[in-house]
Amino acid sequence: MALAGLFLVVFLLVHLGINLLLLANDDGRAFSAAASFMGTNPVIRGMEVVLFGGFLLHMLFGLLVSIRNRASRPVRYQHRNLSETSPLSRYMLHSGIIVTIFLALHFIDFYFIKIGLVAPPAGVERHDFYHRTLVLFADKGYSAAYMVGFLFLGFHLNHALQAAFQTMGFNHTKYTGAVKAASTIYSVVVAGGFMIIPLWVMFSR
Ligand code: HEM
Repeated sequence: MALAGLFLVVFLLVHLGINLLLLANDDGRAFSAAASFMGTNPVIRGMEVVLFGGFLLHMLFGLLVSIRNRASRPVRYQHRNLSETSPLSRYMLHSGIIVTIFLALHFIDFYFIKIGLVAPPAGVERHDFYHRTLVLFADKGYSAAYMVGFLFLGFHLNHALQAAFQTMGFNHTKYTGAVKAASTIYSVVVAGGFMIIPLWVMFSR
């Protein structure tokens, strides 16, 4: 689960880097070139299979872990010791489900249009992700829904990274501060970075 999750952690940074090219004042040229390279390069296409496999494995293991944890304690504690677990760790399944719903929406908005399963909006060509993004985020309700998705993604990532570091053996108390700081910085950069895009479309265009 940690390995599949870490693969996704790298994917998100690459995806964010490419998406931030949307902000270049060049009518989408840099963004479209990068998106087209990612969409046509055979090596990257192969990685896509690994990516989707990673997503599916990660979700499957997440569900199994949650079911096993509940089954191993059929009668819930009357009084839970809340001080031992952070709110983030107690709501990983919930935040994971919200991120999955966001992803389903996101696939309908972009990926399914690209592969021809969903029709693009009027006036936008199927592979024109630049104008697709502008049309999408000009709708404030839609932008808000995406930003809620990014927020939950940030919460999910923050705890997920700490857990992954622990799985990889960084569980000595001397690492606790560094692990927490790295996880928080990463999640704030990713969630905040993605949020810049709808905000930029809504308020500066
Ligand atoms: C403002 C935010 C975002 C924008 C504008 C955006 C844009 C896009 C675009 C244009 C594509 C199609 C690229 C292609 O197939 O060549 C895509 C695919 C994808 N996005 Fe996003 N994205 C955003 C946020 C996210 C987030 C937060 C996640 C993950 C939680 C994510 C996960 C994916 C995945 C898994 C794919 C399919 C991968 C692929 O096509 O190889 N995206 N996105």
